[in-house]
Amino acid sequence: MTQAEATTIFEEDILNGLKARNKFLSSKYFYDARGDELFQQIMHLDEYYLTRKELEIFNTHKDAILHAIDDGEAFRIIELGAGDGLKTTVLLKYFLEKGVEFTYTPVDISGNVLEILEQNLQAEMPGLRIESYVGDYFDALAEISESPEKDIVFFLGSTIGNFSQGEAEGFLTKLQNFLKPGDLLFMGVDLKKDPAIILNAYNDSQGVTREFNINLLDRINAELGADFDREEFQHYPYYNPHTGECRSYLISTSEQDVVVGGENIHFRAWEAIFMEISKKYDEVQLAELADKSGFSSIDAFHDTERWFADLLWVKK
Ligand code: AVJ
Repeated sequence: MTQAEATTIFEEDILNGLKARNKFLSSKYFYDARGDELFQQIMHLDEYYLTRKELEIFNTHKDAILHAIDDGEAFRIIELGAGDGLKTTVLLKYFLEKGVEFTYTPVDISGNVLEILEQNLQAEMPGLRIESYVGDYFDALAEISESPEKDIVFFLGSTIGNFSQGEAEGFLTKLQNFLKPGDLLFMGVDLKKDPAIILNAYNDSQGVTREFNINLLDRINAELGADFDREEFQHYPYYNPHTGECRSYLISTSEQDVVVGGENIHFRAWEAIFMEISKKYDEVQLAELADKSGFSSIDAFHDTERWFADLLWVKK
């Protein structure tokens, strides 16, 4: 896709969301250069427990994880949305130390991110076999699946949480179709817990999460020549303990008009834009998700407080 094509799709998606009866924008657009930077900051916040908990799981259970994955044959780890690979490094290092034979294939939409990741990993683990892939997850899987060795797809950090239950089923069903029977999925999910803890994670005291959401308005201003006034929007996360969805909204605090891509978008006072789902799962929802998307659960690893889980599922 050329830059011009990407901008056209971006504009269509943004306008489609802003012209809807219930306005929405997609959190997949949060991650421009500034968005990447803000997400890095979020991962270091005390209130944002997810990254810390997953790192704890890897550090505590790396041996059990290896034994659950390794059957003595060479395998390939395909990591979707590899990012900076900080957490994954714990596992990769351990697997290498143990003399396990595997290839690491990080997939990311950002070539820049992958280049940095590759350099860091190569410096830290000269023996690591890396074959990275720049592009969309499913384009990557279409191109690299059909390998003879066992594939293990890493989908970490509760990225699946950006989908509703139904969307997650659709996504994992599609993913599963690229895998061979016996291939594995290793997936990080955030679990239901005290709603106050969840809300704090998305409403941090330093306002970084607000900035992360508002940054998409700045991005729309910069890339589509829009005139959002960031001071006229309030960040509002809301947790529904039944669905497990923590939803973030930006709420227009006044009646106002915004021009986006040459079109006028009207906001009533207190009208909201739905920005992001960060879904928290319980056991029943996870069992249903595995079942409906063609996987069976083989193992699950938790932190001591059971706030987060890394699940090992096999394609049926
Ligand atoms: C990257 C999707 C896991 O939903 O917790 C962090 C993104 N949004 N703070 C999440 C995010 C607000 C994050 N994920």
